[in-house]
Amino acid sequence: MKQRIYIFDTTLRDGEQVPGCKLNTVEKIEIARALDKLGVDVIEAGFPISSPGDFQSVVEISKVIKEPIICALTRAVKGDIDAAVESLQFAKRKRIHTGIGSSDVHIKHKFKSTRQEVLKRAVEAVKYAKKSVEDIEFYAEDAGRADLEFLVKMVEAVIAAGATVVNVPDTTGYCLPEEYGKKINYLVKHVKNIERVIISTHCHNDLGMATANTIAGIINGVRQVEVTVNGIGERAGNTSLEEIAMILKTHHDLNKQTNINSRQIYPVSRLVSRLMRMPVQPNKAIVGRNAFAHSSGIHQDGILKNRENYEIIDPQNVGVPDSSIILTARSGRAALNHHLERLGYKISKKQLTEIYKQFLLLADKKREINDEDLHLLMGDKTKGKQKVEIKLVEVVCGTPLQPMATVSLLINGKETSSTASGNGPVDSAFNAVNKIVKKRVMLEEFLIQAMAQGSDDLGKVHIQLKYKDFIYYGFGADTDIIVASVKAYVDGLNKII
Ligand code: KIV
Ligand code: ZN
Repeated sequence: MKQRIYIFDTTLRDGEQVPGCKLNTVEKIEIARALDKLGVDVIEAGFPISSPGDFQSVVEISKVIKEPIICALTRAVKGDIDAAVESLQFAKRKRIHTGIGSSDVHIKHKFKSTRQEVLKRAVEAVKYAKKSVEDIEFYAEDAGRADLEFLVKMVEAVIAAGATVVNVPDTTGYCLPEEYGKKINYLVKHVKNIERVIISTHCHNDLGMATANTIAGIINGVRQVEVTVNGIGERAGNTSLEEIAMILKTHHDLNKQTNINSRQIYPVSRLVSRLMRMPVQPNKAIVGRNAFAHSSGIHQDGILKNRENYEIIDPQNVGVPDSSIILTARSGRAALNHHLERLGYKISKKQLTEIYKQFLLLADKKREINDEDLHLLMGDKTKGKQKVEIKLVEVVCGTPLQPMATVSLLINGKETSSTASGNGPVDSAFNAVNKIVKKRVMLEEFLIQAMAQGSDDLGKVHIQLKYKDFIYYGFGADTDIIVASVKAYVDGLNKII
């Protein structure tokens, strides 16, 4: 029987601390419901004393979520604990997460205090919280840099005071995996009554080692891991939920399991990215746009022979519809043939060799070869025509004007125009396009980047559209960012249509 590892999700607390990621209560409830469906064990819903909005979110999440434990963060301060207790009043299963700094750096420079005084405050906080809530998690902030003997003393004291879970955070992302693993092992071996509590990791990614440190913690005896969706969080982020869930699922040798329904990973990642307006880096493990995209000839050939040659995870297992074979100048004959067959062309080996030569010439000029290019290469000029083409994009925007956009599209040769408003020029332009194409398409991601640095720069837009449960990518570039956005949108629509 595999040992169960509990997933403590802090997307709505540590993740939401990220600049620009602030959510309103309705958005937080949507994410909490998605986390529940994903199968997390604990949802850290917020830091109630920090603002009335955060307080209210914990209240509302507590009302609707029944299965996972709802957790509220506090400092080792009575007022914080009172606010957390009140915010959790409707929670079916509740936990208070209280704590204080444990490293000398924090004790001296943050609290301007002494080890003795901090220890006293830690114990008092746990005892005070325990009067109102049974399940108390204690965090020894900056445990990664704390003196080990002092940490043992602190953990022992909070267990005696009634803590049920002890969190050993590597707050600054400083530890090496071996070092962090040894720290956990030392606590397991030297803290009196350690078996009475669950030990938890909370690792930050400042040196890119959050996931490795969390795994080192698991190997050395932790039973709970604190993680966020897409690894978002303070500074370089927290350990990412999807990485831990899939490492434990893939490495049977670790003999651990979680309650995560892995098919929900990608949808939840998209939801968090969209609501927090935080794009996922394309090469992000498990959920990045390129995580299952193959572009070099050798890899494409290998993947077409057998997926397992270059993929250790079946994309469908994490909710990604399929792997993708991207046609570029690095692609080989196997990849070209794969796409031609997909488009209904059956050709001989000799014909493939001929087409491949022309394909390489074209691919050297273009970054990516799309279906339209392939039809043209095959001499089929009728199929290659883009179904939707942009004829005109005109916007009125600025303050205090109401943004308005007029768009004209050529659809299968017929021109149609529409005007719409929205909450900005891009939104207005997309609304105008939607009025013309009349498809229920969801914009999942919108990423705009300047290619170089100047204000005269070319804007590059990547978007992801969701249509009938499938994801379609669109790309557009122009010195006018509204035009670049409409180009990307229409590029995506062409793939759908
Ligand atoms: O990074 C950290 O130490 C924290 C604590 C509040 C758990 O976020
Ligand atoms: Zn943190």
